[in-house]
Amino acid sequence: MDTKLVVADFEDWRETVAEAVELLQAGEVVGLPTETVYGLAADAFNAEAVAKVFEVKERPSFDPLIVHVGRRSQVEEVAAVPEEFHELVRDMMEEFWPGPLTFVLPKKEAVPDLVTSGMDTVAVRMSAHEVMRAVAKEMGPIAAPSANRFGRISPTSAAAVIEELGGKIPMVIDGGACRDGVESTIIKPEMGEKGPILRLLRPGPISKEQLREFAKVVKPKKTKADHIESPGQIESHYAPATPLRVIEKGMEFEPEEGIKYGLLSYRGEGGTSLVDVMEWPEIEVLTPGKGKLTEAAVRLFYCLRKLDSSGVDEIIAEPISETGIGVALMDRLRRAAAGHAKASPKNDNV
Ligand code: TXA
Ligand code: MG
Repeated sequence: MDTKLVVADFEDWRETVAEAVELLQAGEVVGLPTETVYGLAADAFNAEAVAKVFEVKERPSFDPLIVHVGRRSQVEEVAAVPEEFHELVRDMMEEFWPGPLTFVLPKKEAVPDLVTSGMDTVAVRMSAHEVMRAVAKEMGPIAAPSANRFGRISPTSAAAVIEELGGKIPMVIDGGACRDGVESTIIKPEMGEKGPILRLLRPGPISKEQLREFAKVVKPKKTKADHIESPGQIESHYAPATPLRVIEKGMEFEPEEGIKYGLLSYRGEGGTSLVDVMEWPEIEVLTPGKGKLTEAAVRLFYCLRKLDSSGVDEIIAEPISETGIGVALMDRLRRAAAGHAKASPKNDNV
């Protein structure tokens, strides 16, 4: 199959949106831009179309998808917000939507089990990217995981989607580079002793500090390997094909003879940077000289992709300061590293 790459131009992006809607209504899957990473979209109510998403991504069916809405009223089509969370959820949607915050809520009957992997909850968000939102407005709720093959680096540009899924899907809309660069923050409202609390299932662009303004934030529960509260917690997620090691704060890096290393540096030369430790065959710097976390976020998956395809034997990553979105960046790096360090038989077949 030829994958049609259409740029969402200022003048005719409405036509482009209509074309995507037509494909989705016909049960096809389409690559769409969001402010976090590109998504692989399907009609959330069409189980066959959703099955195509799993097939194209080579994704195990235990991993549920995020449903994207185009307007607030569409939330009711897929989720039932319990009375006790009404105010909290409403206030948070008002503050953060459209934007990179996903709510896990009790699901409505109409959502196929395949979307939620049989769970009784559904993950819902409204993207800040106009293209995704416009498609969802016209189409209705859209199930869309990141548009990469399972366990691989999420795509932050249309070119990266083509690299991952070219030839397997009919269309990708190019809506530019992703503004945020890492996947949405996922929360699940729960009842605590003194009222609603927020379980943080995946760190992302909306920081813990921002969430705390609304309710107490708690860590995900420890889950057994076969029961996954948020499968983004699978350690091997977001892995490049090349082994990756994070040199945590205070750790030393000693290069071994004969190994070709690539460095993922945070700010480049200076300070505690590893840039001067050796002659690196490949270096990518997340935020050259500046130490700006938002810039690092936008560039993280792009730099990882570049290093991954550069032919090095191992990628060495410097630590990133764990404040704000930096928490999400270190989360993704550690998962990328874990994918290689702990390749258990279970991870092998996902
Ligand atoms: O920014 C994003 O969220 C991007 C863009 C495309 O919107 N999407 C994304 O989707 O990252 P995906 O499918 O790659 O990751 C969704 C995460 C997975 O870890 C999934 O397991 C979790 O959300 N999730 C989905 N439904 C859930 C549920 N009912 N309960 C707990 N976790 C859920
Ligand atoms: Mg993903």
